[in-house]
Order: sequence, then structure tokens, then C-alpha cells
Amino acid sequence: MRKLEDRCSSQWPEININNERFLNFCSNDYLGMSSNQRVLDRVSRELKTFGFGSAGAALLTGRCTLHSELEVKLADYTGQESALLFSSGYLANLGAICSLISKEDWVFHDRLNHASLIDAVLMTGSRHRRYPHLMVPSNSAPIGKKSFLITESVFSMDGDKICLNSLSNYCIENNSTLYIDDAHGFGVLGEGQGVAYELKNLSGECPEILIMITLGKALGSSGGVVLGPKRIIDFLTQNSRPFIYDTAPPPVVAAAALEALSILQESRGALTKKLQGNINFFRKAAKGACLPITQSTSPIQPILIGDAKVALGVERDLKKLKIYARAIRPPTVPKGTSRLRITLSSQHTEAQILDLINALKEVLANGYKATS
Ligand SMILES: Cc1ncc(COP(=O)(O)O)c(C=O)c1O
Repeated sequence: MRKLEDRCSSQWPEININNERFLNFCSNDYLGMSSNQRVLDRVSRELKTFGFGSAGAALLTGRCTLHSELEVKLADYTGQESALLFSSGYLANLGAICSLISKEDWVFHDRLNHASLIDAVLMTGSRHRRYPHLMVPSNSAPIGKKSFLITESVFSMDGDKICLNSLSNYCIENNSTLYIDDAHGFGVLGEGQGVAYELKNLSGECPEILIMITLGKALGSSGGVVLGPKRIIDFLTQNSRPFIYDTAPPPVVAAAALEALSILQESRGALTKKLQGNINFFRKAAKGACLPITQSTSPIQPILIGDAKVALGVERDLKKLKIYARAIRPPTVPKGTSRLRITLSSQHTEAQILDLINALKEVLANGYKATS
């Protein structure tokens, strides 16, 4: 059997498909944590102590000290009172939203929210309104009704970011709870704390806030965590079916996230700075090459193409140049907005980013039309 250490080191930001190597510009492993040597060593060690599977539901025998240590450390790092670990971000969204929102309540949610948020809202049976992307809802719930505003922080397919101040003010004015899916903000915004970093800069009062972070992106592991006031997290622990009736995540999954979190904390912002440096470098070079990039300043840098078949053609031609970036098509994005979703990491070198720019220039010059 291959040792864990042999598996990785050079795996990111390259990817091996059918024994061919490609430059990887489509992973959400924004900080290269999934192949970080410290993470691999920790997993190796904990594997010997805890074995692999958790073999039980969280409230029965499925949890060990690593699961609770992860919750405590994440709550502490983000300045939240308490946290609850689910097997995935998808289940965390379903588990929190479906337990806290009933048919009598009202939900206002961004038109471009992730599928897991949309599914969760539909499952609640609540009255809901989708407001225009990145705007503030233009209406509110009837007097006496409980309401929730649900949004991503950094949007998964566009890479653009909410105005936390405006949404927070809306929630204060309307006594709404603000639920933020920070899947693509955690490890990226602030020094790594994600949207929580920006809470302290809010100009006014802070509404009741719940934050969901995924462990499968910047932390390079797997799972989802809901963070917020202790009384709400305690309620979820006792009532959230996707938490209660699901086999707990393997201990080593929690261990990988714990080690990645330590690396992030110890970096004191150096890792996010490196990532932002790469984003700025890409954007400057792309502008210089007249590539049709968007306003996004996150690691998610879409190139809007429009037609789904054309987007697939661009993906295919980039692959011939050894660049792996995926085309995203409906229903993941609205019809007519198919795109190439490029993601950047702190691990990319400037030379690799220039390879990407040159490949994009060559492919887009081949008659493909991209829209800016
Ligand atoms: C915004 C957002 N929320 C939730 C999820 C689901 O997270 P997970 O993959 O951990 O189930 C994703 C995953 O792609 C996502 O992008």
C-alpha cells in the first residue's frame, strides 16, 4: 500500500487524469490544505489511534474528542458562541434551515444561492421570496411573522461578495435572522476567518446570525459546520435530523480539518495574503491580455461564455493545452450564462498563472466568443 506521504506533495496544483498531468484551475482547495504535509502527517497519526470510520451516529457512539475539539476551535476562531459539525455542507444547510424554519415563517433568499440552500428552503414549506442577486430584499414579512434572510457570502459560481452591512441593517430593521453560507468565504476573507472577520466592522447593531462553513474547500477536508448562538446550536443538536440520524464524519476527517485550521491560524493572514496576491496577479495579467473577466476579487474567477456548448468547447480546448478548468452550465447557473469557472489557489505560481492566461488567450482567439 502506498504511504499517505507519497500520495501528494506535488498533487496540487497539478492534477492527474488518465495518467496525463494538467494544471488544476478548478479545485476549491484554495489553500492547498488537502495535500499539505502537516495535514497528511496528522491524519496518519490519528488513523492509528482512531481507525477510519466513525461507525455510529453522533449522539450514540460516532463522535470522539476530535469532533468536539474541532467545533470548539472553529467557534473560537470565528468569534461565535458555539458550533455543530455535520457530515457535509449540504447536510449542514438542510439540517439547520429545516429545523429552524417552519411553514409559518418567511424567507428572503438571494436568487443565485447554492442548490443546498434552495432545497432546504423548499423543504421548510415556508413562504419565500427570491430577491435579485446581491441586492437587499425590497419587502418584508407581515407583522408578527418570523423571518430569515439567507445568502452566501462569496457566491460559488460568480465569486462576487455580499454587502454585509446592507443585509445586516435589513435584518435589524425587520427583526430577521441572517443565515450566511460561508463555504467560499472561510479561509479566504479576512485573515481566514471568513465572513465572521467582517462582523466586527459592522456599522450598526448585529442581527441574530448563523454562519455555515464547509470543511471541504479552504480546509481541504470534508464536512460542514453551523456556527452561532449557543441556544440555537443546542437546539440543532437535539432536533436536526441530518445531524442526529447520520453517521458522524470519520475522526480523521475532523483531524485533517483541525490541522488545516491550526496552519491557517498560525499563518496570521499570510496564507490569505498569498492567495489574494495570486488573485491580483491573475486579474492584472488577464486585463493586460484583454480577457473578459468579471468584477470578482475572490479565488473564483469566471469567464462568462453564454452558450453551454461553446463553454464545453473552451474547456475541451484548454485541456488540449494541459489546463484543467471546468465549464459550468444550467441548471447550476441560469440559462445563457454558461461559463468557465476558474479557481485560484495560494499554491499556484505566477508562471502557472501565466500559462493559464496564455492558454485562455489562444483558445478564445480561436473564434469562441466570451462576454464581459
Ligand atoms: C455555497 C455552497 N454551499 C454548500 C455547499 C455544499 O457543501 P458540501 O460539498 O460540503 O456538501 C457547497 C459545495 O459546493 C457550496 O458551494
